[in-house]
Amino acid sequence: TRPLKVALLGCGVVGSEVARIMTTHADDLAARIGAPVELAGVAVRRPSKVREGIDPALITTDATALVKRGDIDVVVEVIGGIEPARTLITTAFEHGAGVVSANKALLAEDGSALHAAAERNGRDLYYEAAVAGAIPLVRPLRESLAGDKVNRVLGIVNGTTNFILDKMDTSGAGYSEALDEATALGYAEADPTADVEGFDAAAKAAILAGIAFHTRVKIGEVHREGITEVTAADIASARRMGCTVKLLAICERAADGKSVTARVHPAMIPLSHPLASVREAYNAVFVEAEAAGQLMFYGPGAGGAPTASAVLGDLVAVCRNIIGATTGPGESAYTRLPVSPMGDV
Ligand code: HSE
Repeated sequence: TRPLKVALLGCGVVGSEVARIMTTHADDLAARIGAPVELAGVAVRRPSKVREGIDPALITTDATALVKRGDIDVVVEVIGGIEPARTLITTAFEHGAGVVSANKALLAEDGSALHAAAERNGRDLYYEAAVAGAIPLVRPLRESLAGDKVNRVLGIVNGTTNFILDKMDTSGAGYSEALDEATALGYAEADPTADVEGFDAAAKAAILAGIAFHTRVKIGEVHREGITEVTAADIASARRMGCTVKLLAICERAADGKSVTARVHPAMIPLSHPLASVREAYNAVFVEAEAAGQLMFYGPGAGGAPTASAVLGDLVAVCRNIIGATTGPGESAYTRLPVSPMGDV
């Protein structure tokens, strides 16, 4: 089988992890997909930066030429922001590539146009990494729950603010000290305003509401309040009431089924509630569906490697679709490992 060619747009915290895992797990990925995948080009802004493990010959500053090459099967977009990402993704579809994106800002602003471009060109658009890092949430909503009726999606979808609120709550750290630590750990966006003012969570809420309720919600339609006004005194008084403060995203279908709402704001959570024990940069999301009941999704919601995990899962899915593995991984995708009678539990 011919190798599938992947163009990587962006090689920051997430992109470099994607490239690293594509190299170190090449055999496993080939087995899961049914064809080898090869990194065919990496578009970056600063070509002089040393990027360990990436062949310098693959590096380019011309992202447009890369997506127009015509031999690219999948474009992985991890540059973020509206432009040039939007034009690059649309151009990628027009030149025959499927797209995996982690770009919540763009999907929350113009998801409808991106989906339309994908549909027009008969290509895939996957974006599990855009919401809640490593946690499978987009595809479970889009695929596993496609036969059910989702009424509510509620939870913590921003790791940076959860990290900050958790630090303030447990160690008494000040707001800016906690923010600096979150930034140093690679959780915060390049401009942390997106995190602390709730824009990042609002983008994720817009995307989740859109998928959950089969509609289109733009980020501007999400009521938004960040955590910049939350003080140490607020957290202490929540504590006295047996609560903690969390930044929640809440997406709901109206009782009459005729409208939906999405909002992001700090909320007091009783310490007995599972959301209260979501620590550091972890995310947790409850999905309430008519037949399924209440489901909880929990895990690392930010950071290079967890987000790369979601990107790679999407990459495998898009590649499988390209080679026509319509029934999912076949028997040949299973690696035979010996089964031990007792594990190290
Ligand atoms: N800045 C984001 C967060 C990264 O803290 O959750 C993941 O989207």
